[in-house]
Amino acid sequence: MGTQVVDSANPVEYLVHATGDWAVYFLVGVLWLSPLRIWLGKRSGFSWIKRMQSHRRNIGLASAFYAALHFTLHVLDNPEWEILWKDLQRVYLLTGFLAFLILLLLALTSSNVMVRKLGANRWKNLHRLVYFAVILAATHLFLNEKSSDLQALILFVPLIAAEFLRFGFWCYGYCQKKR
Ligand code: HEM
Repeated sequence: MGTQVVDSANPVEYLVHATGDWAVYFLVGVLWLSPLRIWLGKRSGFSWIKRMQSHRRNIGLASAFYAALHFTLHVLDNPEWEILWKDLQRVYLLTGFLAFLILLLLALTSSNVMVRKLGANRWKNLHRLVYFAVILAATHLFLNEKSSDLQALILFVPLIAAEFLRFGFWCYGYCQKKR
């Protein structure tokens, strides 16, 4: 992410990079909210984390919105079907495309009406697809030769570690309850 954007002479290419970056920032940001709430939410000075919880839907929607812009700009930059079809056969673009489809599905089912229609449990399970989206987006970034691997590592590795820890604590709590 980053540096090559400034050097790009093509404004559409610049925007493809910028919108891709923002899609990732919002996606990673929304996923950090739960671990942060669990670990810091009760401490004084961190009540803002709890308040941010109520904005999770909007942050997720912002990620989907930037991903849609990113995709649209890429299509505008390469408006031939043959190029787009070839793109889909490259793993790094295919992973981006699948991540985008998941974000789109989550955005379309994010309203209260959809929660009621699907039922809370089915809706929750569907929205767990966000974890696949983040793995696909991370793969999309790592396979993109022009992106900085270091920045991608800084964004994704702590998040994945935090999610593993959270899952570990959940398993521990579950086992304790069963005893
Ligand atoms: C249909 C889906 C997608 C397509 C066709 C696509 C295409 C691209 C292209 C062409 C680039 C620039 C590659 C280069 O110039 O080397 C790129 C970079 C990037 N994409 Fe995607 N992408 C898609 C989905 C996504 C999604 C869903 C996300 C995030 C959630 C994302 C995040 C990024 C990021 C962060 C970069 C790097 C930006 C930078 O280096 O500053 N992309 N993508």
